[in-house]
Amino acid sequence: MNNNNQAYNTTALEVLNLNKTFDGIKILDDVSFTLHRNENLAIVGRSGTGKSVLIKCIVNLIEPDSGTINLFGKILTDLNEDELNVARQNIGFLFQGAALYDSMTIEENLLFPLVRNKKDMAVSDRNRLIDHTLESVGLIDFKSKYPSELSGGMQKRAGLARTLVLAPQIILYDEPTTGLDAATSAEISDLIVEVSSKFDTSAIIVSHDINCITKTADRIIVLDKGRVLADDVYAQLINHSSELVRNLLRKK
Ligand SMILES: Nc1ncnc2c1ncn2[C@@H]1O[C@H](COP(=O)(O)OP(=O)(O)O)[C@@H](O)[C@H]1O
Ligand SMILES: [Mg+2]
Repeated sequence: MNNNNQAYNTTALEVLNLNKTFDGIKILDDVSFTLHRNENLAIVGRSGTGKSVLIKCIVNLIEPDSGTINLFGKILTDLNEDELNVARQNIGFLFQGAALYDSMTIEENLLFPLVRNKKDMAVSDRNRLIDHTLESVGLIDFKSKYPSELSGGMQKRAGLARTLVLAPQIILYDEPTTGLDAATSAEISDLIVEVSSKFDTSAIIVSHDINCITKTADRIIVLDKGRVLADDVYAQLINHSSELVRNLLRKK
C-alpha cells in the first residue's frame, strides 16, 4: 500500500460498461471500475473469469465489443493510431512470462524499447536511465547477464525494469508472483509497492496470491463470470455477504 493517506481524487483509468464475448460466451459482462492516481488496485477471481481478457482490453491487445476505456481523460476508442501509440506509453504491463528477449543481455533488453519509443533520447541519457532503472529493481550488477542466467524472481524484476524504462503512469501486473516460491513472491510484492511510490505510478494487480494482494492492494475488485461482484477495501471484503468473495480473500 502507498500508505500516504492522500485522497484519491484524480482518475487515472476509467473502465465503463465493458463487454466481450468469445464464441458466444460472455467473458466480460458490463465491467465498470475506476483506478485512481497512485492507487494499487487488485483484481481477484476464479480461473477463467476474464481477468486477463480485461487487462488485454486495457492495453488494446483485445478489442472489446462495447464499452469505453478512459485513460487520463482520453477515450481510447476515439483515438487515431498515432494518438493511441502515445496513450499506450502511459501503460506498462508485466505479463505472466517475463517476456524478455533470451538472446539479449538485461541491459539490451531495456535498451530495445527505448530505442524504439524514444528515438530522440541521447545515448548518454539512455544509459543513465537504464542504470537508474536497474538500480531501482536491484539488478544493476546483472546488466551484462542473459535472462537464462537469472533466477525466476530476477527475471520478473528485469521484466518490470523493461516496463519502467518507458516511464508509464499505470502498470498492469498479471499474476506477478505465480510460479515463484514464497520468499521470492514476497520480494516481488514488496517491489510492486516500492515501484508505485518511487515511480509515482498507479497499478492494477491481477493475483490469486492472498499475501501479494494484502501487501499491495489499496482496494480490491472481485470478478466472477465476467461481472464485478465486489469493489471495496480488504477489511470490508473479508466480511462480504458472498461466500465466494470471503473464500477468495481468506488467508491460506
Ligand atoms: N483470444 C481468445 N479467444 C477465445 N477465447 C478466449 C480468448 N482469450 C481468452 N478466452 C477465454 O476467455 C475466458 C477468460 O479467460 P482469462 O481472461 O484468461 O481468464 P483468467 O480470469 O483466468 O485470467 C476463458 O474461458 C478463455 O478461454
Ligand atoms: Mg489470467
